[in-house]
Amino acid sequence: MHFRQETPADRAAVEAIHRTAFPTDDEADLVAALRESDAFVPELSIVAEDDGRIVGHVLFTEVTVAGTDAALTLAPVAVHPDRQGEGTGSRLIRHGLDACREAGYELVVLHGDPAFYGRFGFEPATPYGLEHPFDLPDEAFQVLWLVDDVAGRIDGRVTYDAAFGEL
Ligand SMILES: CC(C)(COP(=O)(O)OP(=O)(O)OC[C@H]1O[C@@H](n2cnc3c(N)ncnc32)[C@H](O)[C@@H]1OP(=O)(O)O)[C@@H](O)C(=O)NCCC(=O)NCCS
Repeated sequence: MHFRQETPADRAAVEAIHRTAFPTDDEADLVAALRESDAFVPELSIVAEDDGRIVGHVLFTEVTVAGTDAALTLAPVAVHPDRQGEGTGSRLIRHGLDACREAGYELVVLHGDPAFYGRFGFEPATPYGLEHPFDLPDEAFQVLWLVDDVAGRIDGRVTYDAAFGEL
């Protein structure tokens, strides 16, 4: 198993992973739309490859928030259903977060299950003064600070790429 930046040749396999892992095509469509957007950061579209087969994908794209120009959101992440529960998703996310840090980003926000994302250090975002524009529970809105001591100067409403609004 190894983790690397997605290439154009991987696109169909990546979208197929999202189509099979999620109940609808929304996430596959989101990935396709984000690739065409200004929020896309090519080195932060990362695949898990095992023996020449793409088995997972995670995408980090840029968001806007007051106090920094180095903010990301993690969405979506998926592992092929016949390869879930083997630790691949966790390793893929950890690899991706290291890549975000190395690229100089300061925070990552996401919406997801705190029981899953807490293991990577994500914590509730609203107590930091961060807000999201979605009709989703605040408990699911989480942040990971990638750099020490930046939390105090970054707050307010997070603005997402228009592709998220098409979901
Ligand atoms: C979530 C996902 C990427 C995790 O990948 P994975 O390779 O199965 O994950 P790992 O083997 O590293 O970790 C498994 C853990 O994730 C948990 N988990 C898996 N899917 C989950 C989900 N949708 N929500 C919450 N927890 C989930 C498992 O219960 C397990 O927890 P445990 O370690 O406490 O037992 C994968 O299960 C997947 O593609 N799910 C469908 C798509 C999805 O829900 N994506 C995330 C949306 S926020």
